[in-house]
Amino acid sequence: MLNSAEAPTAHAKLTAWIEEIAALTKPAAIHWCDGSQEEFDRLCAEMVDAGTLKKLDDTKRPNSYLACSDPSDVARVEDRTFICSEKEEDAGPTNNWMAPAEMRAKLNGLFDGCMAGRTLYVVPFSMGPLGSPIAHIGVQLTDSAYAAANMRIMTRMGSKVLDVLGAAGEFVPCVHSVGAPLAEGQADVAWPCNPDKYIVHYPDTREIWSFGSGYGGNALLGKKCFALRIASAMARDEGWLAEHMLIVGLESPEGEKTYVAAAFPSACGKTNLAMLIPPAGFEGWKVWTVGDDIAWIKPGDDGKLYAINPEYGYFGVAPGTSDDSNPSAMKSLTENCIFTNVAHTDDNDIWWEDMSDAPAHAIDWKGNDWTPDSDTPAAHPNARFTAPASQCPTIDPAWEDPKGVPISAFIFGGRLSKTFPLAYQAFDWNHGVYMAATMGSEATAAAVGQAAIRRDPFAMLPFCGYNMGDYWQHWVDFGAKLDNPPAIFRVNWFRKDENGKFMWPGFGQNMRVLKWIVDRVNGKAEGAVESPLGLMPTHGDIPWEGLDFAKETFEHLMEVDKAGAMADAEDQTNLFDKFGDKLPAEMEAQRQAQINRLNDAPDVWKMPS
Ligand code: OXD
Ligand code: MN
Repeated sequence: MLNSAEAPTAHAKLTAWIEEIAALTKPAAIHWCDGSQEEFDRLCAEMVDAGTLKKLDDTKRPNSYLACSDPSDVARVEDRTFICSEKEEDAGPTNNWMAPAEMRAKLNGLFDGCMAGRTLYVVPFSMGPLGSPIAHIGVQLTDSAYAAANMRIMTRMGSKVLDVLGAAGEFVPCVHSVGAPLAEGQADVAWPCNPDKYIVHYPDTREIWSFGSGYGGNALLGKKCFALRIASAMARDEGWLAEHMLIVGLESPEGEKTYVAAAFPSACGKTNLAMLIPPAGFEGWKVWTVGDDIAWIKPGDDGKLYAINPEYGYFGVAPGTSDDSNPSAMKSLTENCIFTNVAHTDDNDIWWEDMSDAPAHAIDWKGNDWTPDSDTPAAHPNARFTAPASQCPTIDPAWEDPKGVPISAFIFGGRLSKTFPLAYQAFDWNHGVYMAATMGSEATAAAVGQAAIRRDPFAMLPFCGYNMGDYWQHWVDFGAKLDNPPAIFRVNWFRKDENGKFMWPGFGQNMRVLKWIVDRVNGKAEGAVESPLGLMPTHGDIPWEGLDFAKETFEHLMEVDKAGAMADAEDQTNLFDKFGDKLPAEMEAQRQAQINRLNDAPDVWKMPS
């Protein structure tokens, strides 16, 4: 099946592995992706013929396509995602686990003949700039042309990766099938997939196997599967960090640039923060985008931490993205994009909720007629755009620097309507690790009291490829080795007042908080106020020019409600207790210190004025 003599690589281990997978999955053909524009165009044209893609109007949205998935295949499937370490305790209580031998037996059955009638695409990809010492290589074998085309946008993909790999370079093998073999003469469907789904990671041997889904993080294996789950395990073993973080560079009018990395759970406006436009009052300031979702961070020889965005594109949630909420994202979407599960307009373009005024008529993501009076949304709430990162107007000039960018601060955010102030800094590294470990968002249907927080430690809950307790310990150990570790901050854009109204305007105004963070790490801020939760900016520490924000409102926003914070500290045991002896002693020590500080605090801690 595979003619090794014709393979565009001398990497014997790679070709042997492809032979093995082809023998198992029995595709009709094998195609080595070279990553060229011509190849992308050809794959897309074939998918247009097959009904998988629609080509959008070439004058309105050049070289762009719309895909609509099977309604059963619209998101990552966390309950079908497995971390198959040899030992169950290495997957930990927050991951699904199955013994590797058992999983391999199951997958061997499912993958046997699963590519029949289809082409197996060989997709070599680099996560990170080619040849960067922070980057790593993967090879995805997939029977989905849609996955291959998206991988060309989301990663550096093709022959140039084989060149870097050489004859013996290391790569993470990633096997993907939509799990829909075609019998002789059987007609294909527009979006093949299988109701039985398995998204499987073997962290000990650094392998990924994904079956049954063609969608997003289930199918574009460089993203969550490799760059977070497998990479986090690699980072633990090798002494670096693979994080669910955006990276931005904040440039002052004097040209001083400070890079920060920030983690937020889903639905907290991460892409908006990554592409923030400074508001009125910040003339001369620039916010540069390095990455919107994932950061790989390694210590440099100078003792600083250097970060790259391992991705090459954005796989962003479309609904809600507009010229108001994120003009830079909108400008990134003008050409060379694949849109998935958005609505198709009558003028052969795309639309989603809140993008602009609704069209009078469109075809919704399920292929039905849609008007503004329809009861169902035009775009699926998890509809996505796949866009080249290079098209972002605020892309940082250093985003492809193989050295990475130096990180001065880590920011962790949640979505919390009560108790938690706008911004505060950790007293030290380990306190910061504790703040990140206990972050989260309000449980959506939360009527369950003050502490009903859905914990999402480090925003890594579905993405940590090993025991989360060991991950916290890795952060503690990692910081201990740094002479001058980055400062750590918590932010909360979502606090509400007694009337249920957001107290903070958010969006571009978040720049004011970022400016305080930049001043703190550059030693320019006046001393911060010590609160029971951390070090806080006073009203005078935040620049207010261009925004009318009363001092009293700010001080209200910064209050610490003792009962609420105490209830939260108590509630944290529900998370910590899951880890048994994998809970780092430092985390419980930090929790006790938090309780002690709160015990000493008044019922409502207020900023001294
Ligand atoms: C994403 C996610 O899609 O975090 O980036 O779910
Ligand atoms: Mn993400």
